[in-house]
Amino acid sequence: MSEEAKNFCSDLQCGKETTSNLKCPICLKQGIISCFCDEGCYQNSYRQHKSLHWDEKAGEGKPYDPFKSFKYPGSLRAAYPLTPKRSIPDTIVKAEWAENGIPVEEQQNDRLNSIPVYSKDEIKKIRKACIYGREILDIAGAAVKPGIKTDEIDAIVHEETIKRNCYPSPLNYYNFPKSVCTSVNEIVCHGVPDQTVLKEGDIVNIDVSVFYQGFHADLNETYYVGEEIDRDVINTVETARECLKKAIKSCKPGQTFCSLGDIIEAHAVDMKCSVVTDYCGHGVGKYFHCAPQVPHYARNRAAGIMKPGMVFTIEPMINQGKHKCITWPDDWTASTIDGKVSAQFEHTLLITNDGVDILTARTKKSPGGPKNRISLKKAKA
Ligand code: MF3
Ligand code: CO
Repeated sequence: MSEEAKNFCSDLQCGKETTSNLKCPICLKQGIISCFCDEGCYQNSYRQHKSLHWDEKAGEGKPYDPFKSFKYPGSLRAAYPLTPKRSIPDTIVKAEWAENGIPVEEQQNDRLNSIPVYSKDEIKKIRKACIYGREILDIAGAAVKPGIKTDEIDAIVHEETIKRNCYPSPLNYYNFPKSVCTSVNEIVCHGVPDQTVLKEGDIVNIDVSVFYQGFHADLNETYYVGEEIDRDVINTVETARECLKKAIKSCKPGQTFCSLGDIIEAHAVDMKCSVVTDYCGHGVGKYFHCAPQVPHYARNRAAGIMKPGMVFTIEPMINQGKHKCITWPDDWTASTIDGKVSAQFEHTLLITNDGVDILTARTKKSPGGPKNRISLKKAKA
């Protein structure tokens, strides 16, 4: 160990170890720990870095909306500051983007456009990653209740992930700042955990991805917050749950990936909901995201036929209103265009010789689970 303090550059696009003492003056004043290699890293990252600062006008300890002039489609607001980047112990094998945000090998693999078929040995490791992913999601899901902050869910996911010797795949993936995505109400996907406090009647999707011994697992579920949930919200959540279930049922060798969208959209339309087209399921395993592309909408032209040893996700995003999305100025959070709710469920799946294996399947102890559509606002009865 050197005598100089070892730090990592707070520029998420650098992230390198540094002995520099360059500090952000606002961080110094506000008691936030950060440091930068040099003036360049400081300036390059300032737009993102400033999300860690308290708003002087709002006052210390007071969350504030950093995008005041953005025309939000719904009632949810970004609630800053974000908490500083969570650290990963040296003993954990990091994903390739942990330092500078760029998945170099994943991008190189994308050019091949081929669907990986995994060996027995690789599948063993993917299974393990998926079991860990399920354990972590269940612990996070059990913590959902009115009063919890989405950043607290991130803290739980981060801690449970490193406890299992896994790297939280979202952390610094294309500079995503947190270890999990938390998408509340009208958020379709990629919500950034922040100071938002969940309240009775909300829904929240928790999207967990972990990297273990060279392989990624990816799963998510939408949870009800409290008991008093609007009828149409229940319909949207249950429709999303059912869409995933129906699509999985059809998976087997010889089935086309493009057929899944027909199954999903048919059910969504039956239930008076719409299907998001901007985000798709994907191959997962050696890469966080790779071929095949798995659109969730009908009459899509996705390439590929399922074969034993292929591993991919299905993760339909189902909206109560319009299918269109708009991204917040944080460049991540995807909201419905009309501010109505969106729900999502995701599994990592393995094609077997005679069907499909749900690698991220729920257990008897998993929290959450379906809610009956006919149960009208019970609390008011
Ligand atoms: N877990 C998401 C998926 O289902 C991807 C999240 S990417 C992140 O594909 F950077 F936002 F984390
Ligand atoms: Co996914």
